[in-house]
Amino acid sequence: MKKACSLSELGFDADSASSGLFRAVAANGGDHHHDSSGTSMHRLTKVSVIGAGNVGMAIAQTILTRGLADEIALVDALPDKLRGEMLDLQHAAAFLPRTRLVSDTDIAAVTRGSDLAIVTAGARQIPGETRLNLLQRNVSLFRKIIPALAQNSPEALLLVVSNPVDILTYVAWKLSGFPVSRVIGSGTNLDSSRFRFLLAEHLDVNAQDVQAYMVGEHGDSSVAVWSSVSVAGMPVLKTLQDSHTTSASASMIMKEEALEGIRRAVVNSAYEVIGLKGYTSWAIGYSVANLVATLLRDQRRIHPVSVLATGFHGIADDHEVFLSLPARLGRAGVLGVVDMELTHEETKRLRHSAKTIWENCNQLGL
Ligand SMILES: NC(=O)c1ccc[n+]([C@@H]2O[C@H](COP(=O)([O-])OP(=O)(O)OC[C@H]3O[C@@H](n4cnc5c(N)ncnc54)[C@H](O)[C@@H]3O)[C@@H](O)[C@H]2O)c1
Repeated sequence: MKKACSLSELGFDADSASSGLFRAVAANGGDHHHDSSGTSMHRLTKVSVIGAGNVGMAIAQTILTRGLADEIALVDALPDKLRGEMLDLQHAAAFLPRTRLVSDTDIAAVTRGSDLAIVTAGARQIPGETRLNLLQRNVSLFRKIIPALAQNSPEALLLVVSNPVDILTYVAWKLSGFPVSRVIGSGTNLDSSRFRFLLAEHLDVNAQDVQAYMVGEHGDSSVAVWSSVSVAGMPVLKTLQDSHTTSASASMIMKEEALEGIRRAVVNSAYEVIGLKGYTSWAIGYSVANLVATLLRDQRRIHPVSVLATGFHGIADDHEVFLSLPARLGRAGVLGVVDMELTHEETKRLRHSAKTIWENCNQLGL
């Protein structure tokens, strides 16, 4: 691992500079928290980010600014880009909480002992390529990444962000051998935020005061749980439907179509951003950093994330499907999943989502 352009590379000795500046406190002081070099013996929090592309760097940057880790290890297949990204962040050290940043193209060299490993590495779709082919290429990538992560950080939590996230979370679970509570996909945490943003703009309230969940697949078949949308504990579905221009005369079907328009707007908003700027980064960065805070600080908050959903909402016992459901998260990972009350239509859509995901997982032969 090449150290970031340090003064020792320029011939200066760090130990003698430090002892020239500081004197040790009196011996026999009974301070058990430091070793002889003055290094803290406290357990530090370490997060590894695999894939230093647009998404990985937005996540690393948000974790850094929020001071969520003592050490961040970055891994990417492109050494120059990786070192450039690391140096660029290190140069902000004077404005940020102190965080050690390391990087390497080799997982074993820098990720050892991580508390949390976030996987954003992914192959990009080649024009004309089928989704299944892209999936196969990403599975090959995960065959290199996941066992190496599991071997070097056997106690870590694994958080998968690469797409298709639900299927790759299943792949990560299979390849890591980790208990299912320690393998999580970022899932619809971001979709739910987009949903809450749209509703909040419409109702002129803060998005943090809108309770609304997208569940199921992170992608086209995601399910908006209209029956549980609330503001200040009050259901808002009727108010929302009444606010539609055709509400007075609208039939039930038209009302449902109007709601479906909102769900589609949530799904399409990712495509819109990609169409406009080429990729998405800021919202996924904040969304994942939010998950990191909940997990590492044992916040026990509820997030819609991709978890093993077998047995929930009628998903068959032999279908090992990962999809998003509201889950209680903490330092040990997934602490529980909310068994939501869904309408008949919502359950039908969720099962359809599960079927789509399972058909893909089943073809992987893992
Ligand atoms: N789950 C979500 O909500 C969500 C949101 C946005 C993006 N994504 C997904 O995140 C992934 C990354 O997106 P991006 O825009 O950052 O792409 P990107 O192409 O900018 O970054 C991917 C990075 O992975 C690296 N990489 C490739 N193979 C590697 C390997 N073997 N080891 C380490 N690094 C390797 C590449 O060099 C590249 O830097 C994509 O799969 C994207 O679809 C998910």
